[in-house]
Amino acid sequence: MTEGTDPDTVAASPWLATVARGLSPVLLALASHAQALDGIPNPLPGATAGDPQRGRAIVADRHVGLCLLCHSAPIPEERFQGDLAPSLAGAGARWTVPQLRLRIADSSRLNPQTIMPSYFRTEGLARVAPAHAGKTILSAQQIEDVVAYLSTLKDTP
Ligand code: HEC
Repeated sequence: MTEGTDPDTVAASPWLATVARGLSPVLLALASHAQALDGIPNPLPGATAGDPQRGRAIVADRHVGLCLLCHSAPIPEERFQGDLAPSLAGAGARWTVPQLRLRIADSSRLNPQTIMPSYFRTEGLARVAPAHAGKTILSAQQIEDVVAYLSTLKDTP
């Protein structure tokens, strides 16, 4: 990879070329790390394309997603929606799919103080009942379904 490297400079100093070659994987790793901090670009392992209908059902279900405990969403048949968090209406206009995926999978990476559960994280959780140890709250497929649903929510109230 010599992109961005002046060929004359490289020819003049072979050691610089060596350093540049050694450095570029590090820089690439840092770049993809920074990207990973704001979003998860690829579907979670083992999941197929998300289904918005299934995702809507997960968001609406008080025993599965619990989302409506804190959020409101354009799901008119569900009464008593939460107001501890921003409305999910318009989430698909505010965030890209990778950004939504990270926000559902592990919101604490963006805000360590958040009250929102990390739906796809098994490490570093305090107070986990033994029966739940090593299990994520939602499966990879459920996260993809929820993300697919949220990405359809383009209208802000
Ligand atoms: C215990 C409360 C709680 C639950 C349950 C919860 N969230 Fe959140 N969520 C929050 C809070 C608070 C924020 C605001 C950002 C922050 O504090 O991290 C947030 C932020 C978000 C955002 C970004 C909002 C925006 O547009 O700015 C999305 C999207 C989201 N949550 C989706 C969900 C989904 C989907 C579920 C269910 C699978 C869920 N949340 C469950 C509390 C919660």
